[in-house]
Amino acid sequence: MDALVTGAGGFVGKYLVQELLTNGLHVGACKLSKEYIAVKGCEILDLDMNYQHEIQKLLEIYRPEQIYHLAGQSSVAVSWKNPELTIDVNIKGVLHLLEAIRNIKNYYPKILLVGSGEEYGYLCENACPVNEQEKLNPANIYAVTKACQTMIGSIYAKTYGMKIIMVRAFNHIGVGQAPVFVASDFALQIAEIEAGLRPPVIQVGNLNAKRDFSDVRDIVKAYRLLMQKGCAGEIYNVGSGHAVAIQELLDILLELSQESIIIEKNPARMRPAEIAMIEADISKLKSHTGWQPEFSLRETLQTILNHNRRNFGIL
Ligand code: GDD
Repeated sequence: MDALVTGAGGFVGKYLVQELLTNGLHVGACKLSKEYIAVKGCEILDLDMNYQHEIQKLLEIYRPEQIYHLAGQSSVAVSWKNPELTIDVNIKGVLHLLEAIRNIKNYYPKILLVGSGEEYGYLCENACPVNEQEKLNPANIYAVTKACQTMIGSIYAKTYGMKIIMVRAFNHIGVGQAPVFVASDFALQIAEIEAGLRPPVIQVGNLNAKRDFSDVRDIVKAYRLLMQKGCAGEIYNVGSGHAVAIQELLDILLELSQESIIIEKNPARMRPAEIAMIEADISKLKSHTGWQPEFSLRETLQTILNHNRRNFGIL
């Protein structure tokens, strides 16, 4: 097997499996037993990252050359509500994976660990765009778990010589993302309004925060290239390099609709703590891999909105 993807039943996993298949790799897609993967041409395998012995058994059978570790709890909002689950899945999951690999004799796969731009947390005003050397100052439990994962990855790479590449991925969006995330949520609400399923009022949280959005298809391409060209033991930011205010993202979506929609701030959508701006310096990713994004934010938002419209039979 060329590549194994953990968390392949999730939003990003499905895109990554497709990206790897399109590039001719023999792919194993690991999912939870309750999940469903519609992608054809890969081996679909049930795997729960809570069980190290199951991971080891699977790796001993398939001995994939590359392992993309995507399994995890990926929502900052959910981590405020369920910190324990976030810690269990995100921190113990990576330990189980790395220990399982270490237990297998003469097995030295390349491993990609997916961390987050959230790891940087509270930054000085002039620190953006932030580069990989910046001191970490996480502002929420999700960010702590991802910072911890990256640190564990660095330790295993240095101490045991494992071929681990760590990424800090910034916000990525696309069709199929759960509406717990902002772009999916706003697009769903607008499509529901257009379909006459709700009054013309959109519920929002903090519109002042600035985030660095990319299309998920560009992000998975960066992961594939990093596995080929990235350096083991190194950390790479993966993002667009441009932060936009959530207000701007909302304005684009509203422009794409004919409806006249009222914006309503909902206190339940505000978070206990929030970083004002996160923007990636992506020069290291570009210089090591030659990666360039293909999709504009407007194109991606249009694609997400149209997908929701199709689901409601209004396109
Ligand atoms: N979800 C949501 N819903 N977010 C809202 C809303 C709303 O109604 N209104 C404003 N926001 C703001 C949030 O407060 C946040 O500042 C921003 O929109 C983006 O929120 P999310 O889409 O939930 O993503 P996130 O930034 O918390 O986390 C994403 O990006 C990280 C990298 O920066 C996730 O994809 C993480 O997995 C990823 O690591």
